[in-house]
Amino acid sequence: MELREFYIFSVLFLNSILVSVNGCEKARYDNYRVYELFIANQEQLDLLKQIDEYPDGYRIIEYPGTVNKDVQLIVPPHKFADFSELVQTFQIKSRLMITNLQEVLDNEQPNLKRSSSFDWTRYWKLSEINDWLNQLVIEHPNNTELIKIGESYKGLEILGLKLNIGKVSGKKQVIFEGTMHAREWISGAVVTWMLNELITSEDPDVKELAATYEWIVIPVVNVDGYEFTWKSDRLWRKTRRPSSLLCFGADPNRNWDNFFNKGGTSLNPCSDLYAGSHPFSEPETKQYSDYIAKLPNLSAYFSFHAYSQLLMLPYGYTHELLENYDELYEIGLKALESLRSRFRTEYRLGSIANIIYVATGSSLDWVKYNLHTNVTYAYELRDRGQYGFVLPASQIIDTSLETFDSIVTIMKESKIKGII
Ligand SMILES: *[C@@H]1O[C@H](CO)[C@@H](O)[C@H](O)[C@H]1NC(C)=O
Ligand SMILES: *[C@@H]1O[C@H](CO)[C@@H](O)[C@H](O)[C@H]1NC(C)=O
Ligand SMILES: *[C@@H]1O[C@H](CO)[C@@H](O)[C@H](O)[C@H]1NC(C)=O
Ligand SMILES: [Zn+2]
Repeated sequence: MELREFYIFSVLFLNSILVSVNGCEKARYDNYRVYELFIANQEQLDLLKQIDEYPDGYRIIEYPGTVNKDVQLIVPPHKFADFSELVQTFQIKSRLMITNLQEVLDNEQPNLKRSSSFDWTRYWKLSEINDWLNQLVIEHPNNTELIKIGESYKGLEILGLKLNIGKVSGKKQVIFEGTMHAREWISGAVVTWMLNELITSEDPDVKELAATYEWIVIPVVNVDGYEFTWKSDRLWRKTRRPSSLLCFGADPNRNWDNFFNKGGTSLNPCSDLYAGSHPFSEPETKQYSDYIAKLPNLSAYFSFHAYSQLLMLPYGYTHELLENYDELYEIGLKALESLRSRFRTEYRLGSIANIIYVATGSSLDWVKYNLHTNVTYAYELRDRGQYGFVLPASQIIDTSLETFDSIVTIMKESKIKGII
């Protein structure tokens, strides 16, 4: 190579490195397909496990853990041929759900110019959510307080808001946990909507509910992951701490220190289900759990995930049922009646292990097992896979309305049973 050529080459090469180092480039999913597979036998399940361990561009959306379950798989164009062979060889029933994932990503947000103030017609970045929380505290100084949970691996603040109308001490506490998994954007959107509803609703029942408890709302727990979904890869799930030379992040909902890595997890740092090097290896789960553990009077804990339309009770670590399972199940049925009555949205109810899969080290299990909190539910919000994680922003408000209806019922029924 001539010196001049070498110089040009170096400049071009360096530029391309700088672009990726700056994180300006966002992963694209042009022509990626999403299939729904029905996993009918152990051989097919083992194949999925292999795909999770050695993905090479495939992406399992939620690993099923047992047979007789549907699973969604993202298939990159360079795997189309392999995939159709696999489906034949293993005789897997499959259904094409999305033919071009990038198109779905492009249609997630409205085309409108950015609205000037925070609302629920679109999804918001972390800094915009935090600005809104700060604004609420300025507007409602007598009823709200900013909570600083701690700092992420990347040094971002994990913020929450405490709503205590009149700042009366001794109230029982209720937590809304949002965005543990980075790509589940609907979680943070619903949680902020509900917080706003508690602050602004004129409905006498909601006003009374809002005033009775101290509400602790954390829209985004996994702040680094969420930031990454905006800047680099919309479908990122985990935290962002390097977990090996090659791969990043642990699954923050497998990283808690109860029955750590005892099922539904992986010790492969490249897996989406990587539990972490040890319990609470991630600064986000460590600091957040420390915060929760110090609350004097935690009565109810709600964790918001997506998607599948499920209302779930602990436990995930075992198929056995928890102490007050029947009570929470009964309340859950009523909650889902309320949820359905608005838009006929159908949810299923059950314990995590029984309704989706065994999953150890989750926040909900930890709260129930360690703190014995009476009322504990996790939601898998809309939808059932049509859009999956990329639920169009036009569904935020309806999803929030129906979800909040069910929360109001849970609180009301729990009160009747004397457990909050
Ligand atoms: C906050 O409470 C103080 C003292 O009770 C009262 O004077 C003030 O008007 C209240 N501020 C707002 C914004 O409600
Ligand atoms: C816990 O809640 C009860 C009932 O609201 C209250 O009487 C008690 O003082 C609270 N305890 C603390 C430590 O806040
Ligand atoms: C949990 O439920 C019991 C009744 O089963 C009740 O006595 C207790 O006060 C409840 N705890 C909280 C923090 O609400
Ligand atoms: Zn999740």
